[in-house]
Amino acid sequence: MLVDSHAHTSDAKFDTDREEVLKRAFDAGLKYIIEVGCEPPLWDNVAELSKRDGIFSMFGLHPQDAEKFNEELFDKLKNLLKDKKCVAVGEIGLDYHYEPFLKEKQKEVFVKQMNLALEINKPVCIHCRDAYDDMVKIFKTFDVLPKGVIHCFSGSWEQAKVVLDMGFLIGIDGPCTYPKSNKLAKVIENTPLDKLLVETDCPYLAPQKYRGTRNEPAYVVEIAEKTAEIKKVSFEQVCEQTTENAVKLYGLKK
Ligand code: NI
Repeated sequence: MLVDSHAHTSDAKFDTDREEVLKRAFDAGLKYIIEVGCEPPLWDNVAELSKRDGIFSMFGLHPQDAEKFNEELFDKLKNLLKDKKCVAVGEIGLDYHYEPFLKEKQKEVFVKQMNLALEINKPVCIHCRDAYDDMVKIFKTFDVLPKGVIHCFSGSWEQAKVVLDMGFLIGIDGPCTYPKSNKLAKVIENTPLDKLLVETDCPYLAPQKYRGTRNEPAYVVEIAEKTAEIKKVSFEQVCEQTTENAVKLYGLKK
């Protein structure tokens, strides 16, 4: 039993064989897949896909699309978030990796969506790339923070500790299986198992065994195996606890 707590199988890279990919995932023992709709052109596809058993959705505006934000889009987002299969606002956050980025616009749109999550009482799934300090600064402006996960965590253990203390979970992805993953291994080693989620972020970030190819939800098994190895616990224990964590954070039920 496992959950891929962050997948993008609505991506065009799955257009030719989406059915096989989803079948492989459930055959591999996945109980749930959380499908992330963070690009407005794909929102409706994500909503459609999440009508199926075992698939849930989240919706948000990705920081790289922050400049597209307008009231009409925000209203559409609010509507999608009412869907009964929608479990979170995400992925939202900050991304200062690829130039050009509009820092102030990203911050504004991030805060708006954090407030929306609080308003509708849903957790958040946060994307943060090369923007850790600004993310924490924003968190500190909130009296009450929504529950949530820092997805695809790529920071140090010291940085993980700060967000764990603020109540967030840590999302672990394929890079934990790469040879140069010492920093992430330390994060996994030190983070309590009941604060970890496993996720593929497919089609990106394929685990080492499949590196360079398209990632897919079934490969979350690789991430759970590596997590078990690092934490010196059984694979079953990782599967059971991370599933429970996802169920609890996102309120997953059929
Ligand atoms: Ni993602």
